Amino acid sequence: MTGRLLLIPDGPAVLTYTLPLLAAMKQAGATVKVAPTAYDGPSAANLVSHLAWSSLSGHPCLEIERLDVETLRWAELIVLAPATPLLARVFRDGRAAALLREAGRPVLVLASCLAGQAFEADEACRWQKALPAGSCVLPPSGGPVSLGAMGTVAAPPQEAVLETLGRMLAKADLAGRRVLVSAGPTVEDIDPVRFLSNRSSGKMGAALALAAWRRGAKVTLVHGPMSASVPELEGLERVPVRSAAQMHDGMAAAWPTCDVAIFSAAVADFTPDHYCPEKIKKVDGRSLILHLVRTADILGELGGAAHRPACLVGFAAESDDVEINALAKLRRKHCDLLCANDIRRPDAGFAVDTNAVTIYTAEGEAIELPVLPKREVAERILDAVVQRLSRKS
Ligand code: CTP
Repeated sequence: MTGRLLLIPDGPAVLTYTLPLLAAMKQAGATVKVAPTAYDGPSAANLVSHLAWSSLSGHPCLEIERLDVETLRWAELIVLAPATPLLARVFRDGRAAALLREAGRPVLVLASCLAGQAFEADEACRWQKALPAGSCVLPPSGGPVSLGAMGTVAAPPQEAVLETLGRMLAKADLAGRRVLVSAGPTVEDIDPVRFLSNRSSGKMGAALALAAWRRGAKVTLVHGPMSASVPELEGLERVPVRSAAQMHDGMAAAWPTCDVAIFSAAVADFTPDHYCPEKIKKVDGRSLILHLVRTADILGELGGAAHRPACLVGFAAESDDVEINALAKLRRKHCDLLCANDIRRPDAGFAVDTNAVTIYTAEGEAIELPVLPKREVAERILDAVVQRLSRKS
């Protein structure tokens, strides 16, 4: 995430909530300046010294009383972290509200409330009305943030904050598009305790869904049981499934309205021909033979259906003859783009954070990407999708 952020922290949650958030913003690549609140009581400047804010952010700490339009305009985005009743009085209803409006920079409000109390929807509306266009209010949907002796508050989870910052700073080149993504493994149950599955972590699919969301799309993510986490975000619908048959139904339901479909799931090709409702017992001297039947080829089937998304992307996990197999899959499954990864490489494919992908196009072009973090691979794949969409429109 590259971008200039002005962070305005307040209240006792700065210690356990805002400081880790500042570190995460820096780690993600943002340039951050901090203007802590200063008053008698649990202000951000009383709880964390100016020196600490300066050294953690890497920039001299700003005096909140001296904020002017020019300083606000240095920032691409202003973050109220968290938005306490005091910040509401000053930046929403008070004299600094006019300053924010004059600066015209979007504001991200990290709404907070006492843990256990409901966050009023009216509160978000009041913020939205008072702030410049493009501002966003995140509800306090995360787990409780401990304030030590001062109790607990609720605030938006860090992962959701970082993704939202990414969305507010990114180019919205998928705005208005509906993107459907399949991700993770599927699980084929044999009996109540045993199943067949694969090593997919869902990281590539989760990265694609989040990248599409950051670029302004409405996203549906149909995913098997995966270790990759995807925060709760407005406009990103998660459809958890288990088996290949359930994944088929989830994808088919969202298919007719999607503009872009990306199939990154590692779908089981075989499933037991019947599920045994009781645990299968071993019998001395006898082996067990499982009879497996084929599952539906979801991409192959939907790719040939009447509705055709503007861009259809498949994946291919290959261990030999990568190019030949990938091109055959691209044609067989009616794809516009096919992302092939060589699963023999230790830095690509299943359960690692990096991937080495070559994107083949229906026109025979090959875009070979270097080994990159999956988040970056997702961006490059979406660049190819956007390029294709712009050629069509
Ligand atoms: N796929 C699917 N449904 C299946 C199997 C695969 O939708 N039952 C999709 C995957 O999500 C991926 C593409 O098809 O986008 C290719 O998956 P892959 O496992 O590489 O290929 P298979 O079709 O299983 O072919 P093979 O086993 O011959 O490699």
